[in-house]
Amino acid sequence: MIIAPSVLTADFADLGRACGEAVDAGLNWLHLDIMDGNFVPNLTFGPPVISNLRKALGDGPIFDAHLMITNAEETFQQYIDAGCNHISVHVEAVTHLHRCITAIREAGATAGVTLNPGTPIETALEVLPELDLVLIMSVNPGFGGQSFIPTVESKIRRLKEAIDAQVAAGGRPVQIQIDGGVKAHNIAMLREWGVSNCVVGSGLFNDRASVAQNLAEIHRALE
Ligand code: DX5
Ligand code: ZN
Repeated sequence: MIIAPSVLTADFADLGRACGEAVDAGLNWLHLDIMDGNFVPNLTFGPPVISNLRKALGDGPIFDAHLMITNAEETFQQYIDAGCNHISVHVEAVTHLHRCITAIREAGATAGVTLNPGTPIETALEVLPELDLVLIMSVNPGFGGQSFIPTVESKIRRLKEAIDAQVAAGGRPVQIQIDGGVKAHNIAMLREWGVSNCVVGSGLFNDRASVAQNLAEIHRALE
């Protein structure tokens, strides 16, 4: 199980230190929530900040860009140039999904599609052979610290079945990533559903404990 720290609830005045704390705790996959104030009602950061984070953290960590923006098709290259290894686009925001995914992979990054809680799984299944990852939102995107929406279970189980069938037929394996409201108390259940990559924001970055202490609790829940 990959634990992908979301820095959305970290201290943005000290973002480099927050990312460094996650890396020092042993987390190598950093989930970067990119919001444009248009696709979602919040604004975060973009390529210049990411390229500074890349300089600060070196080549080691995998930068996973979750693009919650309306113009991902036109701008994904900027995120790759800034140092992102993985790009996930929202199916609700991209018109030519197949072309966009293919272009991301041709540009040298791994590609994912993201589905909002109200979006059916079918769109992702249409492009499954081209994907490295499917990101299932278990909150409505825009803010950290929201409650987990349990009805995503059936969507995840259907996706897991489709991926297993694809792999059995010799096709590519695809990660199932989940994002929103993931905590120590529900992470073992998510693994049982077939999730292989959990984004954790407020469960790691909070004022109760350090990232390392919160991560230890998550690891205990997975034992
Ligand atoms: C929501 C973001 C998530 C979120 C996760 O739009 O995509 O990455 O910040 O935070 P928690 O774990 O607090 O729900
Ligand atoms: Zn996210």
